[in-house]
Amino acid sequence: MQTTRPQIKIAPPGPKAKAMIERDHAVTSPSYIKEYPLVVNHGEGSFVYDVDGNSYLDFMAGIAVTSTGHAHPKVVKAIQDSASKFLHICGTDFYYESMVTLCEKLAKTVAPYMGQTKVFLSNSGTEAVEGAIKLARFHTKRHKIIAFNGAFHGRTMGAITLNGSKYTQKSGFSPLLPEVYHAPYSNPYHCPCGVSKDNADTGCTCSDYITNELFVRHFQPSEVAAIIVEPIQGEGGYIMPSKKFLKDLRKICDDNKIVLVFDEIQSGVGRTGDMYAAETLGVAPDVILTAKGIASGMPIGAIIAKTSVMTWGRGSHGSTYGGNPVCCAAANATLDIIADTLPQIRKVGQTFIAELKKLQAKHKVIGDVRGVGLMIGCEFIQKDGKPAADYVGKLEQLAFRKGLLLLSCGKSTIRFAPPLVITEAEVKVGLEILDQCLTELGDA
Ligand SMILES: Cc1ncc(COP(=O)(O)O)c(C=O)c1O
Repeated sequence: MQTTRPQIKIAPPGPKAKAMIERDHAVTSPSYIKEYPLVVNHGEGSFVYDVDGNSYLDFMAGIAVTSTGHAHPKVVKAIQDSASKFLHICGTDFYYESMVTLCEKLAKTVAPYMGQTKVFLSNSGTEAVEGAIKLARFHTKRHKIIAFNGAFHGRTMGAITLNGSKYTQKSGFSPLLPEVYHAPYSNPYHCPCGVSKDNADTGCTCSDYITNELFVRHFQPSEVAAIIVEPIQGEGGYIMPSKKFLKDLRKICDDNKIVLVFDEIQSGVGRTGDMYAAETLGVAPDVILTAKGIASGMPIGAIIAKTSVMTWGRGSHGSTYGGNPVCCAAANATLDIIADTLPQIRKVGQTFIAELKKLQAKHKVIGDVRGVGLMIGCEFIQKDGKPAADYVGKLEQLAFRKGLLLLSCGKSTIRFAPPLVITEAEVKVGLEILDQCLTELGDA
């Protein structure tokens, strides 16, 4: 097992990788992004191996998904055992133990702050988002939804309407869902409301936009079904909002009987050092959406809603594959491993941030280091303080060629979302490579 340093034996992409990329480009959708030419053969723990025999340290976990690391033996065994029994029966219409156990586990985790909940299982994050839109509308008998600038909620029609991060996700797909409105998202580093960085935590006025603009100029709060928000923005730039922002949203929802939905598809399942960011940030939503890390890479998502909110009736919502038994088995094993790993995630996350801050003191190109647990953003800036977007692209490519897998988000941020089982030693190895890359690239 690779535990020390990644090893690049053949400059990537090597010959086997090149051949695979050529085949891929001939047949796969041109909408795929493909950040850099990584062609995976297998993975183990925090390491990924390409088809030419190179190894890479993984600081992005397949976009915050492989929470227990690559091919965790307990998760693999749970999948194998489950697959050997039955592959499908349809959880919408029939019963099986792994689905019940998973819903019990999810409900139990959030019970201390959400009380009694019920769970709907989907196949993906975006499908959980669609379900939440339906649920909020059904429950409140209202239509309007408030989402945020910089948000990312997925790729289906409802979810892309909520998105506020890149126009390419929406362009060409109109008409989108009607009755969706966007508000500014609290960003202490680049405050969208002009409140200074130092005051951001107490003085954030983003939520005032909802009460003073939307509710005054556009519609009444009694028309709003849901406010859907990422408690820590993912795709938008790994942005930690001010504490006041989420508390204000909770109050707006309480005052106006609006459903508060936390999209924790990226921030959930231990990434912040608690099972959900709701717990880390001390604000309880009415609905939590989870997916990505929940089953270490198997496709499953969930809507966890207060019982008082999940009021839709028999046949209102369902899914052929949602809560597939093999995915449920993977999720049950994953949640057990993550529950035991939470203290390590907090500790390794603190080291990660402290080491990144040392790099910030050394490299002026690092404008901001932020995050909690192993959801860490590092924003790169030019000399004039503007986002260093091209620089981040170059950094991703260079790091890849040195054996470190990075992934950007926002305008010029690298998101550090490694497997949650990563060790301090592995973090230090990865940050040494990052340091070398920054030294080589110089200022932006
Ligand atoms: C916050 C958030 N919501 C929703 C989604 C969509 O999830 P999926 O790609 O599983 O549909 C993502 C995916 O990146 C996400 O980060």
